[in-house]
Amino acid sequence: MIHLEGVGYRYAGAPRPSVLGLDLELRDGEVVGVVGAAEAGKTTLCLLVAGLAPRAIRGELRGTVRIDDEDVGPWPMHRLAEVVGSMSQDPSRQLSGVNGSVFEEVCFGPMNLGMPRAEIVDRAWWALDALRITDLAERDPARLSGGQMQLVALAGLLAIRPRHLVLDEPTAQLDPAGTRLVGDALQRLASDGASILIAEQKTDLLARIADRVVVLDEGRIAMEGLTDTVLADPSIETLGIPLPLMVVLRRAVADAGIDARVLDVVET
Ligand SMILES: Nc1ncnc2c1ncn2[C@@H]1O[C@H](COP(=O)(O)OP(=O)(O)O)[C@@H](O)[C@H]1O
Ligand SMILES: [Mg+2]
Repeated sequence: MIHLEGVGYRYAGAPRPSVLGLDLELRDGEVVGVVGAAEAGKTTLCLLVAGLAPRAIRGELRGTVRIDDEDVGPWPMHRLAEVVGSMSQDPSRQLSGVNGSVFEEVCFGPMNLGMPRAEIVDRAWWALDALRITDLAERDPARLSGGQMQLVALAGLLAIRPRHLVLDEPTAQLDPAGTRLVGDALQRLASDGASILIAEQKTDLLARIADRVVVLDEGRIAMEGLTDTVLADPSIETLGIPLPLMVVLRRAVADAGIDARVLDVVET
């Protein structure tokens, strides 16, 4: 479990905090979606939950970030990396830049954690297969498209099988098919007990995989609750968040006085 209590963060040199007063609990096996307009604080929240602010990005932290009831502040980086896998918004920055092939890249994380060789190889194939990218195994990571990089970076994280996963807009560069694969892989991971925080503009994806959704507005939590409730709330549109297609359809059908059961055959 990851627990934020009264958390605020001001980047070094910034005049005011980027997020403040955040209370959030991420339970094992739970997928929590984070939505909000640009600059609402989604990336900052991801950095905080991943234990990377202020560790990797300088700034002033208020409140506490605890993982399994321990303050992560004093944790050494290698311990953090084993427990929380995180992926930044920019996939090209996520890749190590030192591996000649995608396969080596995906092995890199588990290798750094000192796992036995046979297990590393098993895990790498499993992760590549989960995202349907085994055909990229021999490719040069530096020569992939943005979407491919995103999938390879995610495979590298899956291979570590961290108990907690923090993903900052992991499908930004993916088409609907790629987005669906990521959703399926994350659901599988969560059902194995991982807790997952995912900042995502694609509310259709969140509608499918998230248990709860947190809405950020100007650095504060504006709304939080069960996915179906939050994503059907009309006020999220005024915060710059698109409604899931299913919600739009349901409303249109209701407005037209048509039986809602016509939507039973629709899959989003
Ligand atoms: N490294 C930084 N230094 C100073 N301010 C930052 C930095 N990164 C983000 N911010 C500011 O923090 C606020 C929240 O940004 P961010 O967390 O990136 O939002 P989002 O991911 O929702 O777009 C914004 O006002 C942004 O300008
Ligand atoms: Mg962001």
